[in-house]
Amino acid sequence: MTRVFDDDLEAGFATRAIHAGQRPEPLAGAIMTPVYLTSTYVQEGLGQNKGYEYARGKNPTREALERNVAALEGGRHGFAFGSGMGCVTSMMMLFKAGDHIVCSENMYGGVFRLFDKLLGNYGLTFSWVDTRVPQRIADAMTPKTRLVFVETPSNPLMRITDLRAAADIAHKGKALLLVDNTFSSPFFQKPFAFGADMIYHSTTKYLNGHSDMIGGIAILNDDDLATRLQFILNAAGAVPGPFDAWLALRGTKTLHLRMPRHDENGRRIAAWLAHRLGAERVIYPGLASHPQHALAKAQMTGFGGMISVELGTKEQANTVLSRCRLFSLAESLGGVESLISHPASMTHASVEPARPAQLGITEGLIRLSCGVEDVEDLLADLEQALKGQ
Ligand SMILES: Cc1ncc(COP(=O)(O)O)c(C=O)c1O
Repeated sequence: MTRVFDDDLEAGFATRAIHAGQRPEPLAGAIMTPVYLTSTYVQEGLGQNKGYEYARGKNPTREALERNVAALEGGRHGFAFGSGMGCVTSMMMLFKAGDHIVCSENMYGGVFRLFDKLLGNYGLTFSWVDTRVPQRIADAMTPKTRLVFVETPSNPLMRITDLRAAADIAHKGKALLLVDNTFSSPFFQKPFAFGADMIYHSTTKYLNGHSDMIGGIAILNDDDLATRLQFILNAAGAVPGPFDAWLALRGTKTLHLRMPRHDENGRRIAAWLAHRLGAERVIYPGLASHPQHALAKAQMTGFGGMISVELGTKEQANTVLSRCRLFSLAESLGGVESLISHPASMTHASVEPARPAQLGITEGLIRLSCGVEDVEDLLADLEQALKGQ
């Protein structure tokens, strides 16, 4: 009996992307993990089963995805959820009323909405700080702080948090560090290497890479935390369906092929935009003009396909958005196809009206998710859309 691979964390990234967590299916030996469309599992007798009792708790397709992404992040445990937000909600159940959480002030708008509008009602308290400056994290820590939660690069301002400094500050205060690694994917950034305790992704984005499902995943190393999160996953039940788990898993198998191309296109387009519009209007950590370029280079091995551009006014933003043909106007990011969006009215519309502008999410800001098309075609699309700018 050949066993293709077990979760060998020493293997190269591409080998793990393709094989980690995957086993030939036991009935026929199918090389691809089946979509286990089942709600329950037949038990041999009371208390006797194959480790599967009811599919909310465990599903083999979901498990294959969890083990695969855990191996890509270099972590021991993975837990997949029905969306990135479902993942964050479930992770917050690791904490209790009275606990305090220090967060990056610029994050995906849905996280702010969840914390500000919902989880605050259950006694969790939050401080939103500029985590680009480690001292601001340190200043916000209180004896009740249990978690430091950062998104780096941040959506959509591409702010970078020094992961090592954030981990040291969190640990000094006996708190954990949670990193949203959605923008980089484990291909370009490995938060555990800098001391992070937990990582999460919206698998909807680069991990799936094909814009055909919604999902989230949490990766962690500590066995006790993992036991608690598995309990929450089963008790609260925000799990993905097996077909969505399978789609995400099909995506991760080509992550190492897609990410270099997103990065190549991102760099070319950012450089072109900086030349065309002025470097001060283009926000991309791969540009030498990005104020945190050196830090980005130190903790990331590539910069990916996300670029934000300041066009001055909502009217100018709207003109460019509506002229684009290859870049489709849509929320989301990280798919093979290029997207363009207006954060102030789309992904960050749920953030209080005064806050986004304060942060720099202006009415004139647009965000590009550069796909893996021919870069010359993407540049030609932007050139015709920017005419007159
Ligand atoms: C950086 C980041 N984190 C989390 C999320 C939330 O994930 P989901 O949409 O899968 O719930 C998003 C969604 O846009 C995101 O951009």
